[in-house]
Amino acid sequence: MKISIVGLGFVGLSLTTVLASKGNDVLGIDVDKNKCENLKKAISPFYEPGLERLLKISLKKKLKISPDFSLIKNSDMIFVTVGTPQKTDGSIELSMIKNAVKNIGKVLRTNKKNPIIFIKSTVTPGTMQKIVLPILEKESRKKAGKNFGLISNPEFLQESTAIKDTKFPHVIVLGGYQTKYMKKAKKFFSKIHPGIPIVVTNHQTAEMIKYANNSFLATKISFINQLSNICQNIPGANIDDVAKTIGLDPRIGKLFLNAGPGYGGSCLPKDMKALINFADRVGINPTLLNAVEETNKKQIQNIIDLMERKIGDLKNKQITILGTAFKPDTDDIRDSIAIELIKKLLRKQAKVTVYDPKATENTKIVFERKIKYAKSMLKSLEKTQCAIIMVHWKQFEKINYNSLKSMKRKFIIDCRRVLSEKQLNAEYHAIGIGKT
Ligand code: UGA
Repeated sequence: MKISIVGLGFVGLSLTTVLASKGNDVLGIDVDKNKCENLKKAISPFYEPGLERLLKISLKKKLKISPDFSLIKNSDMIFVTVGTPQKTDGSIELSMIKNAVKNIGKVLRTNKKNPIIFIKSTVTPGTMQKIVLPILEKESRKKAGKNFGLISNPEFLQESTAIKDTKFPHVIVLGGYQTKYMKKAKKFFSKIHPGIPIVVTNHQTAEMIKYANNSFLATKISFINQLSNICQNIPGANIDDVAKTIGLDPRIGKLFLNAGPGYGGSCLPKDMKALINFADRVGINPTLLNAVEETNKKQIQNIIDLMERKIGDLKNKQITILGTAFKPDTDDIRDSIAIELIKKLLRKQAKVTVYDPKATENTKIVFERKIKYAKSMLKSLEKTQCAIIMVHWKQFEKINYNSLKSMKRKFIIDCRRVLSEKQLNAEYHAIGIGKT
């Protein structure tokens, strides 16, 4: 069986390597020729734990990487995993997915096989029926459900655990019409993911499930962040104990209750905006979703307010940011709250030094010479007047009394409570812990 995957970002590349490492005949397609050349040498365009190792294994098996669309001809399954970025009004930009399905449609014209096309890209409800399906039928001159199958197959993997999540998903969602293609898809997934629930539904529900998932996660984070701000104003209160305990209630669950500076990344903020925009379009005022977003935006201002309360005007103050990635174990800084914070600090003419174990190179692309980039965690603290822990990188746990000696003023804001148990002999403020 030949499987083609169109779009080699986090989702596409994880799927490509996981399927190919199992010995499947897999073709990975991406329009970026340079990326393809690097991938052929087992060099990943981003840092994702375990990815390059799997890529190496896969390249020794039947994996092929190419920018040439025509090679997808005679595939049995085609997965579309291109991005759907955000437009200025919050809605999603469909040009990449339109382009991908147009190209697939053209190839289908002369295809000998009747493939199944899975759309994994995140798209708002109605996109499959109103946009993807008509393009495919027009370009291929064939009928969906007869000459090819079309299935919505949203993805739930997280960056930093992308390989594990691809190998062991918590659910498989298959949206579309009840055809022989759906039966075949169900059989395929139950074989590669035995025991994992498979939800078969229609296109629009599958599309909605993806947004429901991400917006619920965002809601959980904004909820705990708001409670964390309340805790901060109750002397001695600790948000982690609150989160841990309510998480034991099976109706609540313990995950995504880690308070911090707000959610970032290439998905939650974008999907929240798209869902808000979509709700408006279908005549629903998304009051709760708006509040979740607003709470997220305000979280960063709370950090700045705390800094200004403690050290006054930020102009010319030396400030260290520990962690610029949008979360640990990634070099991805897209929509990272730390990046947003640095921009705000620069507007206030603060002098910023950053340290991130993986994301420094990406950070340099954004700020160039406007900030300083420390080579080590310890160096980043030298002569600083305030250090802010934005991301819970494991190595930040090593910070102790000695690490802070070179600071000009020993003032720490710990957005992730990494050092909350330590005796630091410093002005220590943890988000979510009330000062006694
Ligand atoms: C998110 C979803 O978790 C995935 O299920 C989904 O497939 C993916 O988006 C997507 O749509 O592609 P990801 O963007 O990798 O995954 O990031 P998350 O792990 O969800 O983290 C998002 C943000 O929330 C980060 O800034 C993180 O630091 C923050 N976060 C997360 C918290 O502040 N507290 C938490 O308890 C959890």
